[in-house]
Amino acid sequence: MKHTQRATLGGKLSAVLVAAGSSVGLGNIWRFPYVAGDNGGGAFLAIYILCVLILGLPLMIAEFSVGRASRKNAVGAYRALDRKWSFLGYNGVLAAFLILGFYFVVAGWTAEYMVHSVTGELARYSTAEEYTAMFERFIQNPWRPLLYTLLFITATHFVIALGVQKGIERSAKVLMPLLFIILIALAVHSLLMPGGSEGLRFFLKPDFSKITAATVLTALGQAFFSLSIGIGTMVTYASYFKPETNLRHTALNVTILDTLVALLAGIAIFPAVFSVGIQPSSGPSLVFITLPGIFNGMPWSMVWSSVFFLLLVVAALTSTISLHEVITAYMHEEWHLSRKSAAWATTGATLVLAALASLSLGVLNGWRICGLNLFDALDYLTANILLPVGGFFTCIFVGWRLDRKILQMQVTNDGQLPFRIRTLFLFLLRYLCPAILLLVFLDNLGAF
Ligand code: PFF
Repeated sequence: MKHTQRATLGGKLSAVLVAAGSSVGLGNIWRFPYVAGDNGGGAFLAIYILCVLILGLPLMIAEFSVGRASRKNAVGAYRALDRKWSFLGYNGVLAAFLILGFYFVVAGWTAEYMVHSVTGELARYSTAEEYTAMFERFIQNPWRPLLYTLLFITATHFVIALGVQKGIERSAKVLMPLLFIILIALAVHSLLMPGGSEGLRFFLKPDFSKITAATVLTALGQAFFSLSIGIGTMVTYASYFKPETNLRHTALNVTILDTLVALLAGIAIFPAVFSVGIQPSSGPSLVFITLPGIFNGMPWSMVWSSVFFLLLVVAALTSTISLHEVITAYMHEEWHLSRKSAAWATTGATLVLAALASLSLGVLNGWRICGLNLFDALDYLTANILLPVGGFFTCIFVGWRLDRKILQMQVTNDGQLPFRIRTLFLFLLRYLCPAILLLVFLDNLGAF
């Protein structure tokens, strides 16, 4: 066994921080508000929270158990526990690659906005139309977004190349609490904007008449995307956890943190959306055209927006690192490439995909996959299909196939921790979660 050669993470705090570093990112601050806005607001939020609690939390504990029990990359982990299930690992590696394709592009936008904040460019505009025009000009430009995407990919590559322990742990430890504080300040400011309460009502007051099968699938996919589950990221990270790490507490803390950040982002964005007169269903541009409006009304707006976009860059970076790590660890351990070569191969491949996704919003917009441009297709395919499919099979594997003793040992740290919720946990994994996932899928295919 090569156990001793593998890196482990620091203490309890580090396990929570690195996992939260993966979870908290653009999914919370960019994707969550835009899909919530697109799907009616309050009712979406209610379903989202249910998905996080009923499906997200047990699945995260399940993935942690698989990762720490096998101490391997996503493919190797499932293969080690049961050869026939390695497809679940491949599903994760593929999903990580496809997510990076569009995630790097949005991460590049945040880097560009950070630069515009520092130079004062962002503060020059003052109406929703101007923010929208500026954003469209930027994403349709063939070179600038590519340049920022490239910058971001390079940053991710170097953190990964520094190694698991040094690179990931250090970057995750920095700045997370600061992001929280700034989000609270933004939320307070946004709520005080004229007409802000209407936005708050939109976000918090459910109107269940707006809910369709597609809304539920979107909420579910968003929950998986935001928590980084159904993809092997938590399997890979948990393979570096220490034997003393309490998997249930880690999962609970990460889930709470991640959901709080999404909630705060919603409370910051929607009052401003209504106050400034932007459509909540503006899609992926929503946050980028709303935020400058909030900042502009604040004293020292340049400072606030520079720090905020810097933090967003860091939050995105800790997530891209985790996605990159899924592929790098797989290539390193399964293809026997050196870690360095594996990192380069991952970087090269994602670079090509991200460049195409970025161009698909401008010059390559004519290329359509099922009616969607490449950027939107990657977003839809991963969040609404690959992650829920990964989640479904993870439930079946851990609930039905995995040796019960292994699961018990991981969750209780070899009998040292009590496992009072065992019956509930197994009920969720074996019956309720797979049943919900299956029904939502069938309903979307028009089976009912
Ligand atoms: N959870 C990240 C976010 O919300 O931004 C995105 C992500 C990271 C998704 C890692 C999937 C993953 F494996």
